[in-house]
Amino acid sequence: VPVELNGTRQSASTLEFYETLAGDYDKQFADWRAECAHHGRVLSALVRGRQGQGRGRILDCACGIGTQAFGLALEGHDVQGTDFCAAAIERARHEALALELDVEFRVADFRELDSAVPAGFDVVCCCDNALPHLLEDAELLSALRSMRSRLRADGLIVLSIRDYDRALEEHGTGAVPKMFEIDGMARVVFQVWDWRSPSVYRLNHFLMWREAARWETRHYVVDYRALRRRELTALLARAGFGDVRWHMPGETGFHQPLVTAVARPAG
Ligand SMILES: C[S@@+](CC[C@H](N)C(=O)[O-])C[C@H]1O[C@@H](n2cnc3c(N)ncnc32)[C@H](O)[C@@H]1O
Repeated sequence: VPVELNGTRQSASTLEFYETLAGDYDKQFADWRAECAHHGRVLSALVRGRQGQGRGRILDCACGIGTQAFGLALEGHDVQGTDFCAAAIERARHEALALELDVEFRVADFRELDSAVPAGFDVVCCCDNALPHLLEDAELLSALRSMRSRLRADGLIVLSIRDYDRALEEHGTGAVPKMFEIDGMARVVFQVWDWRSPSVYRLNHFLMWREAARWETRHYVVDYRALRRRELTALLARAGFGDVRWHMPGETGFHQPLVTAVARPAG
């Protein structure tokens, strides 16, 4: 239910959260384009490590404004991006023109990919904590099955989620402020988590920046499930994936644990 707080619109709905955040999404990073390139290098190395060299047709099904999609395209992959947030897709199309990258973007819910994109991809990726917006096992399963349906036999799924095993162990209450100074424009990003149950929390995402002499403040709200790695591993198996491998930040240089798994042939 949307509410007004200090003139900033909030909502606990995932779609509304991203619709309002899309215009400012890049402000969460010191240098979003450098972030894209870094994500692309890490994900491409993982994909090529598991599937061999080659171009690889990749579907990024939670592409947002294109952080991983552009990075993977820069690494030479043939990438298509989908996301259920129309504002993010519109922004991604603009960024593609600015970056002169040939990536096609389309609006689609990752639980219903079969009606939106053709099958046969070598890789489907869904990165930076998109999946844990689904709070129930049944919803997660339907999303994973939908992603599997777009893969060729032996195709690879690549997911990244926050390190919730650690967050739960440490009774996490949010993310400490990160500060950047870009072209004289200061920015601050932090999170406060309100736990609603032992495994679901309401994320209060704060984004502040100084424009000229004025501070702009945004407060966005959305729910997340603190999804443990063993839970996601079990769900991947139930959705028809095998050879599940976790790749931790110390090994990959990515900011979150990544998991890869292979689509078992149907039947
Ligand atoms: C934290 S953002 C990450 C976006 C992008 N991967 C990146 O790193 O810039 C999560 C993304 O998941 C998308 N998303 C969440 N639920 C979705 C769903 N059911 N279907 C498609 N996209 C979804 C959101 O719109 C958002 O763009």
